[in-house]
Amino acid sequence: MKHIIWSTGHQIKFDTIVNSDNCYLFDSKGNKLIDLESGVWCTSVGHNNKRVNDVITSQINKITHTGFCYCHPQIEVTAQKVLEITGINNGKCEFLCSGSEVVEYGIRIARAISTKPLVLTFSDSYFGAYGDAVTKNTNQWHTFNWLECGCENSVNGCSGECNSFKNIPFDKIGIFLFEPGSSSGLVRFPSIELISKIVEKIKENGGVIMCNEVTTGIGRTGKWFGYQHYGFTPDIVAIGKGVGNGYPVSITAVSNSVIEQLQKTNFKYSQSHQNDPLGAFVASEVIDIIEQEQLLEKSKELGQYLIQGLSNLISEKSIVKEVRGRGLMLAIEFKRNAQKVYEELLNRGYIVAKRPNAEVLRLDPALTIDKSEIDLFLKTFAEVITA
Ligand SMILES: Cc1ncc(COP(=O)(O)O)c(C=O)c1O
Repeated sequence: MKHIIWSTGHQIKFDTIVNSDNCYLFDSKGNKLIDLESGVWCTSVGHNNKRVNDVITSQINKITHTGFCYCHPQIEVTAQKVLEITGINNGKCEFLCSGSEVVEYGIRIARAISTKPLVLTFSDSYFGAYGDAVTKNTNQWHTFNWLECGCENSVNGCSGECNSFKNIPFDKIGIFLFEPGSSSGLVRFPSIELISKIVEKIKENGGVIMCNEVTTGIGRTGKWFGYQHYGFTPDIVAIGKGVGNGYPVSITAVSNSVIEQLQKTNFKYSQSHQNDPLGAFVASEVIDIIEQEQLLEKSKELGQYLIQGLSNLISEKSIVKEVRGRGLMLAIEFKRNAQKVYEELLNRGYIVAKRPNAEVLRLDPALTIDKSEIDLFLKTFAEVITA
């Protein structure tokens, strides 16, 4: 790999991966690895999914890319499907290529109609590789530390009862950008009380609620979207990763009321791969697979099973401190030695994510993983932490 810029900050562990099947990766010698990270949380319905492949191969022989002034009817079909699962009736969608783009696009729309200067977000949320949401300039953003706010008696972070919460300048905030559950990869979920209070305040002031569902969406947490655990529907939803199952497609879904306000502005956004048909075909197929194979239920049930199995390993002597998760998005927090466990799991063929600067390993297997594979992982994990 002499001619590849490897700028992710991650060390490359394998450079001969040539084949895959659901949760398995195979190297050029046929050795098998078990991918419990879903290629950085993207392969929601498994690597090398036959149905997704068939849709790609059939469409690739017709048309893959259009342009600004002409489009394919599948875009409309997929947009309707996406709006249905988001609960945003009568809204509109924009198809792009990556999570970073759909977050940036959504924020640009929200800012175009907002009458207030600040966007509220949590200090531990992640939104992508570039743009407004990455810089988080203090003259445009108010970041709130919901984990260290000072709420007394709160086991789940802020509940909106402390002075830090009362000091949030809601009169200057027109947008709330909420990542419902990933929080810099550490898998933390703010409480319903906190989110309800924020949503209410923003709505009172006529503001916009946007959810970044790049990681938490498309069944990952046992529902279509992470905000559906909080009982509200946002005005803007950014969807990426799992919706393409590894193919680079992403979608921003926007409510009708936001679109109406946007039409009164001179908002413009153009790039080459907007509303391309191939991505829309893939997204539509992924949604159908999740629906037809009842993968939301599976994500919820297998997630609970895995959390329970891992939690059984917590004891005074164990190096495991906490296991948390929602659906098939889990974090295992260690008292120490997370790096060693990560390396030993890798030696035994298991790919999990090690969060930098934290004693945390993260698991986000494909929603199509077999229960027997989870049982094998639990057995191996128990051996590794005991050793
Ligand atoms: C929560 C969250 N939002 C946005 C992104 C950006 O997505 P992408 O890497 O597809 O641009 C990521 C990527 O990891 C993410 O985890």
